[in-house]
Amino acid sequence: MPEKPPVRLGLNIDHVATLRNARGGARPDPIEAARIAVKAGADGITAHLREDRRHIRDEDIRRIKAEIAAPLNLEMAATEEMTAIALATKPHACCLVPERRQELTTEGGLDAVGGEAHLLPIVKRLGDGGIRVSLFIDPEPRQIEAAVRMGAPVVELHTGQYCDAWIAGEEATAQAELDRLAWAATLAASAGLEVHAGHGLDFETATHLAALPDIRELNIGHVIIGEAVLIGLPEAIRRMRAAIADGVEKRLGAHAATQQQQQ
Ligand code: PXP
Repeated sequence: MPEKPPVRLGLNIDHVATLRNARGGARPDPIEAARIAVKAGADGITAHLREDRRHIRDEDIRRIKAEIAAPLNLEMAATEEMTAIALATKPHACCLVPERRQELTTEGGLDAVGGEAHLLPIVKRLGDGGIRVSLFIDPEPRQIEAAVRMGAPVVELHTGQYCDAWIAGEEATAQAELDRLAWAATLAASAGLEVHAGHGLDFETATHLAALPDIRELNIGHVIIGEAVLIGLPEAIRRMRAAIADGVEKRLGAHAATQQQQQ
């Protein structure tokens, strides 16, 4: 039996900040949420510092870095302002995401192919600053090839289209999207990249993603924070950990079956 492949869980705390900002005060405190989540089993904390600061603010990033020992994955647009903040803060990782002011959330992956000339120096500067750079891309071979060319060590695959199809009950489309994610994950891993995934995942789709052989980290926010309102944050984290563990078990089962067939 191979060693259990770890699939890390990164909790995105943006939605706690959204709730805080709705009333302009200090509560609920996203950093307190991060502390509780890590204690309950989250491996890392993800936060998106948007240009318009609509949820997470600069002071939140500073406090996460100062008060939370778990790795911080800073999601950010590839701008000069954000690069300077990242280099000053030195998070464990930076995930470069596309950002449009009007969008509700990050819609679609980064165009690593079309934006290569702009992205390359930023990827390099962050990397030289000791930060692990991840590119949030759609599961497309040409986007993965661009990430490899730029020397990004990590890609995060956008799971939005898969999750939308799954929630809509469009089985054939959901399966096709899951196959596309699996294929992209294998392609990226075989090129030496570490593969993460996220966006729109729930307890079921997280199991399906964790069952794919090459996924090493899932970044999840909305469903966990939403569920936390009903069952509490520690319990919501534990439920998600259990969902991921189910996927890992399935992965190991499939791996063992393939090995038996080959013998
Ligand atoms: N990963 C990235 C790059 C994202 O932009 C987001 C949304 O902020 C997430 C993961 C988490 O998505 P969700 O809140 O839908 O779980």
